[in-house]
Amino acid sequence: SNIRLQCANGDSLPMIGLGTWKAKPGEVYEAVKSAIEVGYRHIDCASVYGNEAEIGQAIADQINAGTVSRDELWITSKLWCDSFAAEDIKPALISTLHDLQLEYLDLYLMHWPIPLKKGHGMRTADDFVDPVLLPYPDTWLNMNQLSAEGLVRHYGVSNFTVKKLKVLLENTPFKPAVNQVELHPYLQQADLVNFCQGAGIHLTAYSPLGSSDRPDPLKQAGEPVLLENSVIGEIAKELSASAAQVIIAWLNSQGISTIPKSTHLDRQKQNLDSRHLNLSEEQVNKIAEIDLARRYITGEFWIKDEGFYTLEDIWDE
Ligand code: A2P
Repeated sequence: SNIRLQCANGDSLPMIGLGTWKAKPGEVYEAVKSAIEVGYRHIDCASVYGNEAEIGQAIADQINAGTVSRDELWITSKLWCDSFAAEDIKPALISTLHDLQLEYLDLYLMHWPIPLKKGHGMRTADDFVDPVLLPYPDTWLNMNQLSAEGLVRHYGVSNFTVKKLKVLLENTPFKPAVNQVELHPYLQQADLVNFCQGAGIHLTAYSPLGSSDRPDPLKQAGEPVLLENSVIGEIAKELSASAAQVIIAWLNSQGISTIPKSTHLDRQKQNLDSRHLNLSEEQVNKIAEIDLARRYITGEFWIKDEGFYTLEDIWDE
């Protein structure tokens, strides 16, 4: 299968990257260092994960050790929602670049289409900015207009629906290079995938393995665990691969890049080795049938009493 996704300007995005969400400070340095060692060239970061300084040290140490050069790496980070005002975007970017010890990012994503007040978390309705006063298309425009300064190679978004992507495409001259969303065999999102592929927007799948973050009520209700799904298990057996590898190869087979998180060397290797796995058409079709339209990152954390959003607003469904 393909190892990288081509961009119009000749840059290319590695199909399998390392996710760093919930990789704890203290663990993430070793995780990124070993990932680069075993061949990862794409690291997915975000300022809100609170671990970019450690990631930056790991990248710098591997560059200094000669394991890799900066131009072989693809580093993604994300603008957090409290820095969406025009005057806050560049300082947020500079702070991320400082933490990551980088002169530029390969990809900078708007983390969610939801503005928060500067320095505020997502705790109460009072932490939010009225989206009418700070609409995400304005933030998108302002992000893209930083590019002249060479600090960012590509801009994209995360957690955007078809409807919100259309708002950007219809109201701004800038097409996102990437939309990073939750995608896996239990959340296949065929409409979103078709739309993005038709529009030339690359998709990156987060929580590709079904996330350890499944909400507790689902666990208690005996919700099936993606990595234990029997269809995937059978295909894994046929291919002498692991369930995780089948899922990653399935995403890649559709031209979707993915960022499985692991802080364990053996799993990092295993996940990256999915590059060499090819599913048959029959296997792909079997996986198409196990969709549950099940979101694990539900967006509930955006819903506050007296707040601006419902889950319907977030997912447009
Ligand atoms: P760990 O970091 O301990 O390896 P997702 O990217 O979907 O959120 O999934 C990440 C979760 O899946 C983490 O808990 C990670 O644990 C685990 N994981 C990552 N790779 C594999 C693998 N190949 N097999 C089983 N579990 C994995």
